Amino acid sequence: MDKIRIRGGSPLRGEIEIGGAKNAALPIMAAALLMDQPLRLTNVPHLADVTTMADLLAQLGVSIRIEGTTGPSSNETPRLLELTARDITKTTAPYDLVSKMRASVLVLGPLLARCGSAQVSLPGGCAIGTRPVDLHLRALTQLGAEIELRDGYIHAKAPNGLVGAEIVFPKVSVGATENLLMAASLARGETVLVNAAREPEVTDLVVCLNAMGACIEGAGTGRLRIVGTDRLHAATHRIVPDRIETGTYAMAAAITDGDIELVGARYDLISAAAEILTQAGVTIRETPRGVHVRRANGVLAGVDVMTEPFPGFPTDLQAQMMALMAPAQGAAMITETIFENRFMHVPELCRMGANINVHGATALVRGVARLRGAEVMATDLRASVSLVLAGLAAEGETTLSRVYHLDRGYERLVEKLSACGASIERIRE
Ligand code: EPZ
Repeated sequence: MDKIRIRGGSPLRGEIEIGGAKNAALPIMAAALLMDQPLRLTNVPHLADVTTMADLLAQLGVSIRIEGTTGPSSNETPRLLELTARDITKTTAPYDLVSKMRASVLVLGPLLARCGSAQVSLPGGCAIGTRPVDLHLRALTQLGAEIELRDGYIHAKAPNGLVGAEIVFPKVSVGATENLLMAASLARGETVLVNAAREPEVTDLVVCLNAMGACIEGAGTGRLRIVGTDRLHAATHRIVPDRIETGTYAMAAAITDGDIELVGARYDLISAAAEILTQAGVTIRETPRGVHVRRANGVLAGVDVMTEPFPGFPTDLQAQMMALMAPAQGAAMITETIFENRFMHVPELCRMGANINVHGATALVRGVARLRGAEVMATDLRASVSLVLAGLAAEGETTLSRVYHLDRGYERLVEKLSACGASIERIRE
């Protein structure tokens, strides 16, 4: 298995191109199942999870055409993915794909709405929490689906089609909101989603569905109104820039005392993180091309952070923020409210010299003078990248194993960082 080796201490300088959001691309690809005409997507990131979703859709009968590449220069042809679900030949999402990537459950709503039945493996727990799908299932039942859990699979049926309803989510769920948006787009009548997720990736799905002829109002708010239609039509959509990739590289600039422009990033999508970074002593501002980040006066201060649904501070930046706080002056209290087990990076950061104590959902980070390189590994995507950030700032060498986690969510990470002066390489084994 490949490893990443980092020699810390070089400030990052230059520019980094921000790609399309993984967490917008995945549900939007699933939306192709809703119609028999082509969905053309641009700015699709080249990531392992995107490949897994493409494999799943291909198994269901979707034909997939890829054009162009993403590359370091914006002169290159942007990557275009064309998905056409002319005939859906299978309605089962099997265990091997769902267990590899939980976002596979996003095919449930579209398959049920278009074909009247779907069998999707239950995802099971994952490294960051138990992550049930009860909210997806309860809400689909309110649209008239009959759902049974058998042999580790969700068996869903709607032989007479889905019917719109008012659904009040007891808890904000990105995935459940997305599954319901897709299902309700082909349901009879009106659906209202109350306490819906407001994440930019959900809004991007709404924009794409509306381009396909759906009728959805309230994008970006907690109340979404969908008037169902019989048929959707061909559309072209550009995937929104990845706010988590943006925040990650902003923190990489901050932890190395660097100076970076994040080209293609959207400041409005990272304002909660930008506010926290400003409090920590980082200068972060919008530029005509994206976002510019540098340390204001060389000193990084400890700040308290609590993760929340959008527009709050994202859970997907919590691990990176903890790495940033590890060598800061003073203490930082970091509270995780979304997932119950998202602190797996703590023991690894401590092996690099960080001083962190966890009490329930809160981690107390007492800043240390310096981090030291070590051999580390992590069990999920964001935890892995937090160790890369720590390695960039640490004295000496850090070797990170289980690099496949990074391949799921960061396109050309090693290339992007080394182009800005980081001493980082991938060791192929
Ligand atoms: C999405 O996961 C993202 N994944 C996650 O990104 C992200 O961390 C998460 O939203 C929160 O922002 C994709 O978009 C593909 P949720 P999702 O449903 O939709 C509980 C990354 O690193 N819940 O909003 O699965 C759940 O357990 C990843 O890129 C239920 O209880 O998250 C969690 O505590 C990891 N029942 C909370 O809600 C349900 O039926 C929020 O989960 C559904 C969720």
